[in-house]
Amino acid sequence: MAAAPVAVALAAAPALAGRVALVTGAAQGLGLAIARALGEAGARLVLADSQPAVQEVAAAFAADGLAAHAVVADVATEAGWQRMLQAGCDAHGFVDVLVNNAARTASTPLWDISVEEWDALMAVNLRGCFLGCRALGAHMRARGEGGRILNMASLAGQQASAATGLHYAASKAGILALTRGFATELAPDRITVNALAPAAIRSPALDGLPEVRQQALLGAIPLGRFGEPEEVGAAAVFLASGAGAFITGATLDVNGGRLMR
Ligand SMILES: NC(=O)c1ccc[n+]([C@@H]2O[C@H](COP(=O)([O-])OP(=O)(O)OC[C@H]3O[C@@H](n4cnc5c(N)ncnc54)[C@H](O)[C@@H]3O)[C@@H](O)[C@H]2O)c1
Repeated sequence: MAAAPVAVALAAAPALAGRVALVTGAAQGLGLAIARALGEAGARLVLADSQPAVQEVAAAFAADGLAAHAVVADVATEAGWQRMLQAGCDAHGFVDVLVNNAARTASTPLWDISVEEWDALMAVNLRGCFLGCRALGAHMRARGEGGRILNMASLAGQQASAATGLHYAASKAGILALTRGFATELAPDRITVNALAPAAIRSPALDGLPEVRQQALLGAIPLGRFGEPEEVGAAAVFLASGAGAFITGATLDVNGGRLMR
């Protein structure tokens, strides 16, 4: 029998076979959904979170046949990033996909945000993203095999909203600047850096809102429904895969048309 054409064989391979993805904030929510999507697309995983519960998530993934290793670490510190990178190298040899997903979400009115709350949120959301891009960018650059970095932004960083705190919105706008800066810096090394900007994704918090409030939110979404966490995962798989190789410095909106730019 004739051998299958190479193109067919490649097309049949999982999109992320051979990749190693580090996902922060993977103990719950979108981080968990993104990690599962990357794993199901063939990536080996390092699941990081400040909550020890991430170890149970990794065990559940492993029970489903995914190659998942957990590390408890704080994204706000350089020591945390050393732990995450070391865990990835120990478990899988290297890391070539980073998803900077961990964040604090807050809705404190701007008049009530204390300096301490501002600094604590910025340390996780903005400094954490900066430290992650720098630590993993340096690792990918030294390895010389290219790479992918995805930063979780938000609609909150793109337009004004009373629903989220101004410190949260400022951190997410800052992540867009970090994305462009690291994309420029790392492009010569075939490392792409992009942002995902979700909005209106179904979550326990959203489901807990009164029906009338949910209907009001739905009214502002042209596609007429909330998004599912798995749909953010699918967008992450696309950007992390070979199909996303010519996209860098971009922001991919996953918002049902809530904001069109
Ligand atoms: N859920 C949405 O609809 C939505 C919309 C827009 C943007 N986002 C963004 O997507 C990402 C995930 O959102 P989510 O709703 O799943 O959040 P979540 O609060 O449910 O989960 C965040 C995770 O990050 C972890 N984390 C917090 N601080 C950490 C630290 N210092 N070090 C390590 N881990 C830490 C938490 O333990 C938690 O597991 C965030 O960046 C968020 O801003 C979410």
